[in-house]
Amino acid sequence: MRTTVGWRADGPAAALRRATVERRDLRPDDLAVRVDYCGVCHTDLHAVHAHTGGTNLVPGHEFTGVVTEVGPEVTGFAVGDPVAVGNIVDSCGVCAMCRADQENFCHEFPTLTYGGTDRHDGSTTLGGYSREYIVRDRFAYLLPAGLDPAAAAPLLCAGITVWEPLRALGVGPGSRVAVAGLGGLGHLAVKLAVALGADTTVISRSPDKAGDARRLGAHDLVDSTDPDRMAAARDRFDVVVDTISAPHDVGPYLRLVAMDGTLSQVGYLGELTVDTMDLLVGRKKLSSAGSGGRAATAAMLAFCAEHGVTADIELLASARVNEALDRLQRNDVRYRFVLDMSDLS
Ligand SMILES: NC(=O)c1ccc[n+]([C@@H]2O[C@H](COP(=O)([O-])OP(=O)(O)OC[C@H]3O[C@@H](n4cnc5c(N)ncnc54)[C@H](OP(=O)(O)O)[C@@H]3O)[C@@H](O)[C@H]2O)c1
Ligand SMILES: [Zn+2]
Ligand SMILES: [Zn+2]
Repeated sequence: MRTTVGWRADGPAAALRRATVERRDLRPDDLAVRVDYCGVCHTDLHAVHAHTGGTNLVPGHEFTGVVTEVGPEVTGFAVGDPVAVGNIVDSCGVCAMCRADQENFCHEFPTLTYGGTDRHDGSTTLGGYSREYIVRDRFAYLLPAGLDPAAAAPLLCAGITVWEPLRALGVGPGSRVAVAGLGGLGHLAVKLAVALGADTTVISRSPDKAGDARRLGAHDLVDSTDPDRMAAARDRFDVVVDTISAPHDVGPYLRLVAMDGTLSQVGYLGELTVDTMDLLVGRKKLSSAGSGGRAATAAMLAFCAEHGVTADIELLASARVNEALDRLQRNDVRYRFVLDMSDLS
């Protein structure tokens, strides 16, 4: 075992504390990564709130940094390489999903970057709100040149989570896409949909975000609290990507989907009640997705480098992590907090 420093929830408390974090010694196919920047995902907030203190919790599952050490079997990375790591760090590698490049849907469930169970030693994984992370080489990605490492960190969870459904649903030039909820996932969904050539609209309960929506490339923002505007947008979109972080009725969003179109619910994960009439009228489809496979993650990073897509971030010293979580809770974020880990050295 080796140790690093990070931000940890020790018990059922809302605040994270600076603490020593244990890391495994490198396995033959491991990299040691100095974590430079880690995004603050709403899932981290859900995890902190749900934490009961049974196991250690160190959140953080979208980060960039530099390789500082490689195991003897590593061939694709060298010390000094800039890398990115997302929200899965291992999978079985042999099931049908893994063979189909969908390690995110591994039949043995992929190992999550934090709060997951290590496939070799059974330990609970501890995340990227720390100065060092040890990761299996297959689940690290070379950061393409030209992507700012701080603004690119959120691509590894927020970005890939919206990229996979946009691609799977065939979004391209001429597609009519709506993005519900303009937060971390939502603003990257807008940028990616626009870069793919889609005619993109934001659906938001925050009309003061209309200027930002246009700056991000959307042609309009529909205020979801305005029944007239929602009625006027009925049946208008081939794809609606719903990134709303709280439980909500998907009915109003399904009504925005065009005939044979799809609502992809990637935000709040949990039980959902659906009136099948909202699907029946217009033969609509309800879908979900999460994270991405290795191939899609690499493709997304290459696309982002080519099109200059990164997150709009507010960079904070990692010691301000609790302030970032508080503000995220209050929807006071434009549009992703990223923690600068250099204060942990
Ligand atoms: N599927 C996956 O694998 C995956 C991956 C990452 C995250 N997630 C989940 O995706 C969700 C979004 O994450 P995020 O990091 O993008 O969060 P975020 O930055 O907080 O954005 C969420 C947005 O949802 C809207 N919203 C929040 N509460 C709402 C409410 N009560 N009613 C209506 N709209 C509301 C707000 O947008 P407006 O102000 O524009 O209305 C807010 O900006 C979280 O639940 C997270 O856990 C899932
Ligand atoms: Zn996330
Ligand atoms: Zn598998």
